[in-house]
Amino acid sequence: MYQIAQGTQDFMGLNCRKWQTLEDLIRQITTVYGYQEVRTPIFEYTEVFKRDNDSSDMVNKEMYTFSMGDYSLTLRPEGTAGIVRSFVEKKLYGNPAELPAKMYYMGPMFRHERPQKGRYRQFSQFGVECIGVKSPLLDAECIALGYTLVKALGISNIKIHINTLGDQESRDAYRNALREYFAPHLEELCADCKRRFEQNPLRLLDCKVDGPKEIMQNAPKMRDYLNEASAAYFEEVKKCLDALEIPYEIDDGLVRGLDYYTHTVFEAIATSDALGSQLAVFAGGRYDDLVKYFGGPEMSGVGFAAGMERLIMMAEAEGNELATVQTLDAYVMPLSTACQAKALELTTMLRSNGYIADMDVQGRSMKAMFKSVDRTQATFALILGEDEMNAGEVRVKHIPTQEQKNVCWEELIDHIDSFYDITENVCTCGNPNCTCGKGEN
Ligand code: HAM
Repeated sequence: MYQIAQGTQDFMGLNCRKWQTLEDLIRQITTVYGYQEVRTPIFEYTEVFKRDNDSSDMVNKEMYTFSMGDYSLTLRPEGTAGIVRSFVEKKLYGNPAELPAKMYYMGPMFRHERPQKGRYRQFSQFGVECIGVKSPLLDAECIALGYTLVKALGISNIKIHINTLGDQESRDAYRNALREYFAPHLEELCADCKRRFEQNPLRLLDCKVDGPKEIMQNAPKMRDYLNEASAAYFEEVKKCLDALEIPYEIDDGLVRGLDYYTHTVFEAIATSDALGSQLAVFAGGRYDDLVKYFGGPEMSGVGFAAGMERLIMMAEAEGNELATVQTLDAYVMPLSTACQAKALELTTMLRSNGYIADMDVQGRSMKAMFKSVDRTQATFALILGEDEMNAGEVRVKHIPTQEQKNVCWEELIDHIDSFYDITENVCTCGNPNCTCGKGEN
């Protein structure tokens, strides 16, 4: 039997409806924050992701890279690089009046990681990138957008960790301090950390193997190496977060897993008893150098990405189901093959009027068709036998009240409408447990 590839998932039915709810919510929130959707390719030339001297695990160990003739392509492991590539390629930096460019995206990303709960090889991210203006207000705004989303999803067990990596000068001073500190301890570190020590000692702090060791805990802290401008920038970000009443904690050890960050970095960690684990639901930060790297002007950006599977998982763990089973307004039941074409016509008429309708197409027994009515929780069963056909009518059974009557085809929509008070959006069927799905009792 063929099997799904490790670390990937199929979604169907109710699960897809949960994704749609999440996507709708994301579109609402990004719209009120003034972000526009962008769609970039799922694969890019490898050099878009694998930039000079990149020391991150994502780039060095986890990318799905393949060659096509004499060039190399990579399935995107994240969204930021492709968006900055596109921002520069399309010269979106050209008109200062249109900056910052506020962009959001949703879609699949690919990383060859060890699959586990909440960690997949194909996963989806929702992300935002705000490029072209450097202001602590925008760092705070990004965090606020992510926070608004998790709150709207009912995720309450969330902690936002923030830190700063400062500007180039501060980071150089800090890297030197880390090299000096770790040099006598090299033998105690894992093989990856020995490489990180040479390439980018900041990465040492992010090591899953050595991270918990005491030498890591006692390592120099970035905050002691920030120059005045970098410290002031971080103070402003914190001030904005305080003004927005967004709870956060300073996390000296937070350096993030990707190499492009400068100044503010953040991670929203959700804790779930149900999952017995902690997961980063969204994470990001500022990047001063990426636009220039891709051939644009000196221009800073800030953004974050959220794992959509994790958002759904955490929302559900806190009791937000996100979607209910799709029910029908009407199920149409032709009682013989001679009635099928008319039944299709009536079903189409219902659909054109906005009713969710389906019909039997297999010539099944009345009993089997009523099972479908039950299964789909249809509000109306429309029975079309040859007698009704000859009279130009259809029998309409309102399931919650069991009321039924023959209605002529021209009056069918008015009749169905009459069960819903369209203007008040209140169901008038009289059933206290109304399942019509059009309004409240
Ligand atoms: P990241 O921290 O690598 O950052 O990923 C962001 C989020 O994607 C994580 O917090 C997590 O929720 C989700 N995620 C990452 N890997 C997986 C996985 N294997 N399975 C499920 N979910 C996962 C970035 O990707 C940056 N591009 C964020 C950013 C945007 N920074 C600035 N702008």
